[in-house]
Order: sequence, then C-alpha cells, then structure tokens
Amino acid sequence: MAKTKSALVTGGAGFIGTHTVLQLLKEGFHVSIIDNLDNSVPEAIDRLRHLAGPELSSRLQFFLGDLRNKEDLEKVFSVQRYDAVIHFAGLKAVGESVGNPLLYYNNNIIGTINLYETMAKYGCKKMVFSSSATVYGQPEKIPCVEEFDLKAMNPYGRTKLYLEEIARDIQKADPEWSIILLRYFNPVGAHESGEIGEDPKGIPNNLMPYIQQVAVGRLPQLNVYGHDYPTRDGSAIRDYIHVMDLADGHLAALKKLFDSEDIGCVAYNLGTGRGTSVLEMVSAFEKASGKKIPIKLCPRRPGDATEVYASIEKARKELDWSAKFGIEEMCRDQWNWASKNPYGYRPQP
Ligand code: NAD
Ligand code: UFG
Repeated sequence: MAKTKSALVTGGAGFIGTHTVLQLLKEGFHVSIIDNLDNSVPEAIDRLRHLAGPELSSRLQFFLGDLRNKEDLEKVFSVQRYDAVIHFAGLKAVGESVGNPLLYYNNNIIGTINLYETMAKYGCKKMVFSSSATVYGQPEKIPCVEEFDLKAMNPYGRTKLYLEEIARDIQKADPEWSIILLRYFNPVGAHESGEIGEDPKGIPNNLMPYIQQVAVGRLPQLNVYGHDYPTRDGSAIRDYIHVMDLADGHLAALKKLFDSEDIGCVAYNLGTGRGTSVLEMVSAFEKASGKKIPIKLCPRRPGDATEVYASIEKARKELDWSAKFGIEEMCRDQWNWASKNPYGYRPQP
C-alpha cells in the first residue's frame, strides 16, 4: 500500500478506533479523527499520540464534531482530501437502544447518511463500515457465514442491519463506491502497552469490561447470565477477538479497497472462528490476573443466543487476514490495561 494515503476515522477516540488509528499511523497513513466524545475522552487521544510518538502523531488530526451536524463534516472534508473513511462512530448499548430507539436511529442512521452525502460531495467513495455479528440475530447454524439471512434482535442491531442495506443500495446506484462491511464478533483485550483500552461509562454491559471491574474491586461479583444452555458447561459461547487483531483487520480491508477494482459492497466476519464460554473466559481471566472473580449464576439474559462464532474463511481468502491472538493474550492484555488503569482514563475517585 502506498505510504502517503490519508484516512478519516469517525469515532476514532473510542475503543476500537484508538487501536485502529495507532496501526494506521504505524502503516504510514495520515489520519484525521472526527468524534463528538459522547462515549470517549480527550485523554484517549493524548495517550494515542504518546504511543505513536512525535513523528507519527504529527500526521494525526483530531476534529471535535458530531456526524449529525453536517457543518462539522464540512469542516473535516474541506481542509483535506481523504482516500477512504473508516466509520466507527455510533452508539452501541443494546439495552439503551431498547429504551430509546429514536436516539439510536437518529445518531447511527442520520449520522451515517450525512457522512455518505459529504463523502460523495468530496469524491471520496471508499468506506469501511463497523457492522456487527448482531446482524446474524440468534443464528440457527454456526459458524456464522456471511451469506446467512440477516435479522435484528433490538434497535441497535436494526441500525446495523439498515446501515448494511443502505450501503448496498448506495453502491448499487453508483458503482464508483467500494464499501466493506466488517462484522465484528466480540472485541476484547487492549494494546500491549496498557495505555489504551476499553473504558465504558457506568456499569459495563459486556462481559470482559465487567470481569475487569470485578478484578480491580470496583464491582463485587460477576453475574453469569445463563447456566442451563446446551453447551459444555451450561454458559453461553461467543467468539472473542483481540482488539489489535481487529485493528489489523481494518488495515487489510483498506488494502483491499485500494488494491482491487470493483469490489462493490461486501461483508466480512472478523472473528477467530473459535467459541469460548462465559465460564471459560472467567477462568482464563483469573489465570491471567491472579485474581479470584466471584460469580453468581443467574437466569439467561433476554435475547441472548446460545452459541455464536464466526466462519473466518472469507476474510482469510479475500482479505488475507486472520486473527493471531488467543484467549490467553486477550486476558493478559485486558488485565495489563485494567491493572494500570483501574478507573480507565479517569483518575481514581
Ligand atoms: P466506542 O463507543 O468506544 O466508540 C465509538 C465512538 O464514536 C465514541 O468515541 C463516540 O464518542 C463516537 N460517536 C458516537 N456517535 C457519534 C456521532 N454522532 N458523531 C461523532 N462521534 C460519535 O465503541 P467501539 O466499541 O469502539 O465501537 C466502534 C463501532 O464498532 C461502533 O459502531 C459499534 O457499534 C461497532 N461494534 C462494536 C462492538 C463492540 O463490542 N465493541 C461489536 C460490534 C460492533
Ligand atoms: N454476560 C454475562 N454477564 C455479564 C455480561 C455478559 O454473563 O455481566 C454474558 C452474556 O450473557 C453473553 C456473553 O457474556 O452470554 C457475552 O455478552 P456480551 O454482552 O459481552 O456480548 P454479546 O455477545 O451479548 O454482544 C456483543 C455486543 C453486541 C454485538 C455482539 C456481536 O454487546 O453489540 O457482541 O458483536 F452485536
């Protein structure tokens, strides 16, 4: 890939965004971030610059802006030309989306439409979009193959489903667009330095941030949702993927966009292809951290699937990408981040 490409990263101050921007800078990209800091903090950008070092971070620009506001996008596109956009910006809390669907449709859908319109206006028609394994709903078969029928289980999932459909329509109407839809499975872990990582606001919804907060003493115990699933230990199975592998998956997607003609609009799973149960994840984290994670066995969480993991053949063949890290490294790096930053980017209260 040429070393002088430039990318706009929406939501680049967030969990997956910060890790991906670091890899982009290392790969030689000029990077601009637009983020409204709704679910992130300026400290994350400062740490990113520190990790990248002075030379690489001189190629990083941060714009405080909201995709729902077209003027903010104009400011970003009018100062520089972008070869491609990686679009992370969005709200992602399933429970919140059930209680406040309009917020999710407004933020995720209107924001993305504004982004496509501005990209088209400035002649930038290469897009990598953050989709999710949530578009497989409760899969009838596993592993999940990209060609499966899609369905949504909640308003958050519906925003991903609709945004995939919108991407396909845009590309069909104007074949100059090349769009890659990346369906992430369960991103966990952190950069090996422990300087950047996931820092959810409030009580975490997802398993790994929750375990992490139990390990550092912020929460008393982990509620294990479901112990009567038809799985090897009764708890539900997911495909956890190290966030650095995910970041590299975005570089592979950009390479595909730049190196191939006429790719159209195409979806790829980013997972490891391996399933791990909740109880296995707890044991792996206990081993990595040396901390006991007290658990309480609880009823199933409504809407949860029994077992979800990715088919990874398509990404391997067409993007020449596959995940390198296993559960041990995911837990090691998550614990490194947690032990160095028990309150995330915030100082201990
Ligand atoms: P995150 O919340 O850490 O990062 C998203 C960033 O987008 C935040 O910094 C937030 O401030 C910003 N943002 C949100 N709305 C915005 C708007 N209107 N304008 C500008 N900035 C805005 O989330 P993440 O875990 O890094 O996820 C990134 C993307 O990947 C999201 O689209 C999410 O739905 C998707 N995804 C995440 C997971 C996961 O488990 N983390 C799984 C599948 C898909
Ligand atoms: N779990 C617990 N206790 C907790 C949190 C989670 O037992 O405190 C269990 C869940 O019941 C589930 C498993 O851990 O069985 C994983 O749950 P997560 O919430 O971490 O992840 P999900 O697979 O439910 O969903 C996540 C994101 C979705 C995304 C999906 C696929 O929340 O937005 O991964 O990418 F769509």
